[in-house]
Amino acid sequence: MILAIINTFFEVLKEVAILFIVFTIGVFLIRSYGLSILSFWDKVEDDIKETSFEPKEKKEDNSSKNAFIINIPWLIVGLLFSLGFTAFLGENILIEIFKITVSFLIGIIVAKKLYELDFKQSSLFTIVIQFSLFALVYIFRLALVLILTLVEIAIIDNNQLSGAETIFIISLIAILGFTVFFSYWGDKVQLIKSKRIISIVSLIIGFYILTSSFTNQPLGFYYDFPMFFAISLISTTITAIILKQIAYNNIPSQEFRELRVLEKGKNLLQAKDLKVYYPLLGGMLKRQIGAVKAVNGVNFEIKTGETLGLVGESGCGKTTVANAILGLVDKSSGEILFQNEPIPLNYPKHLRRKIQIVFQDPDASLNPRMKVVDIIAEPLKNLLGITKKSKIRAHVLKLLEQVSLKREHLDRFPHEFSGGQKQRIVIARALACNPELIILDEPTSALDVSVQAQILNLLKSLQNKFGYGFLFITHNLAVVNHIADRIAVMYLGRFVEVGETNQIFSNPTHPYTQALLASRTEIDPYNQEISFVIQGEVPSPIAPPPGCHFNPRCVSDARTKECEYDLPHKIKIDEGHYIWCVNPPVSKNKEGTEVKENIAIE
Ligand SMILES: Nc1ncnc2c1ncn2[C@@H]1O[C@H](COP(=O)(O)OP(=O)(O)OP(=O)(O)O)[C@@H](O)[C@H]1O
Ligand code: SF4
Ligand SMILES: [Mg+2]
Repeated sequence: MILAIINTFFEVLKEVAILFIVFTIGVFLIRSYGLSILSFWDKVEDDIKETSFEPKEKKEDNSSKNAFIINIPWLIVGLLFSLGFTAFLGENILIEIFKITVSFLIGIIVAKKLYELDFKQSSLFTIVIQFSLFALVYIFRLALVLILTLVEIAIIDNNQLSGAETIFIISLIAILGFTVFFSYWGDKVQLIKSKRIISIVSLIIGFYILTSSFTNQPLGFYYDFPMFFAISLISTTITAIILKQIAYNNIPSQEFRELRVLEKGKNLLQAKDLKVYYPLLGGMLKRQIGAVKAVNGVNFEIKTGETLGLVGESGCGKTTVANAILGLVDKSSGEILFQNEPIPLNYPKHLRRKIQIVFQDPDASLNPRMKVVDIIAEPLKNLLGITKKSKIRAHVLKLLEQVSLKREHLDRFPHEFSGGQKQRIVIARALACNPELIILDEPTSALDVSVQAQILNLLKSLQNKFGYGFLFITHNLAVVNHIADRIAVMYLGRFVEVGETNQIFSNPTHPYTQALLASRTEIDPYNQEISFVIQGEVPSPIAPPPGCHFNPRCVSDARTKECEYDLPHKIKIDEGHYIWCVNPPVSKNKEGTEVKENIAIE
């Protein structure tokens, strides 16, 4: 009799301990995951949703309080049942069902009120939490029983039981290895964020079956372990397959829509006082001994439907500007805004999708071992989450048609294309993600002149059609004249002149721009001379000349002694047309007399 009371007492104590552990885990679960549990069911309907940078309304953090409020009634119900009904009436399926129903109802009511959810949402929320907690209770119970069984086996010192124990442990390890492998196996599963949950849940099922068969009948397990192992393996596999299917149906895949047409004239990109310095390391300890001031305080903006041409000599920092926008190099200071919001440091996926780049050399951008269809499919899979093969082929074909390639090109390798066609493939890949800004870093430099024109016309027509913003980097003035709306002329990390294309070409005002335009080679059968060469070497960006960086090479009449130590300032030439110079420019009027221009110094 006394023994029975002590036994019941320990049973109740064990239940209470488990309930408190589960209560703590329940609080932790709800506090950490809260409503995000529900997001599993919410498919991402529109990618605009995730693009909004609007600062989330800062609400008071009630997550811990809410977690306590929901879990306390469950704890009370659990205690009531453990201390009352179950302790005295024993385990009874009806009582269990009653307990589960009461817990669910309480959960649904409390969650509905606390989180302002509708009935369906609060039911889903409660089901997930309660299911997890019930599973935990059973796991804890089983774990306790397992420990007791193992201790018992150790005390009894029976060869067969020890054998059963060894087989049990080996089976656990085998199930673990298989489940982890199986749940991570496959291409599609890589798109699922919470793949770990698939292995954990499947493992729990497999472990549960093995452990309960072992603890129920250790000797039976010894003789029949192949059967138990097979049941466990099959259950684990089936669970993993079911969970994978559920997850596949819920991958937040953004539907590929027809290429989106952007409203023209909207703010797309702004760079404010952008500086990028590459550290220069030296000495035994590889310490920083200086910096390459590749970009040294530039400001510009690009609107939808607009092309900004960035021109300048080799090494002046054009590609560095592009890399900073793409987050490929860290900016030293300044700000880059995309659609009026700073680009976050972690460069989220939806921004990677919206800002695309086309490099100079298509050969270097295309993997020679991949077919065209796979090359263009990559961003569709990785950035848009589209995985169905037939869907991908259809999209890739549409994109190829946009760049005037055909169905028969789908399954060819890059080496089977000409340079111009390869660059078209690169452009199609950039279009695949429905971009908004495309950075074109010397996209036509590697192509012959006739193909250059085709690609430029293609880019122009795509821009007219879809309203993309382009940052067009080049040192070819003819190209930039053809494609750009505005031009920024760069010299040694700084802008020296910006303006609309016709302003720059009809009235180049900065001595460097004038020199660049003068050094253009024209095709003239009677004049084979190169008429103008900018004197001197481009100075090193590690130690640029003080004052105006261009001063050692400047041949302008406006050049004075101050140019060697004064910093150039921004001078307005016309609406939207500015230069950076120490002195107001001197230009020749039509009659050939020198006049000071009507300028405003800002
Ligand atoms: N990773 C790097 N580390 C150190 N210095 C660098 C690095 N990348 C570029 N630079 C330097 O920064 C300066 C600007 O380079 P950038 O590639 O931006 O020039 P660019 O204008 O694109 O030239 P090009 O027209 O030849 O492509 C150069 O002096 C270059 O040597
Ligand atoms: S600041 Fe002086 S050196 Fe520099 S571009 Fe102007 S005139 Fe020439
Ligand atoms: Mg470059």
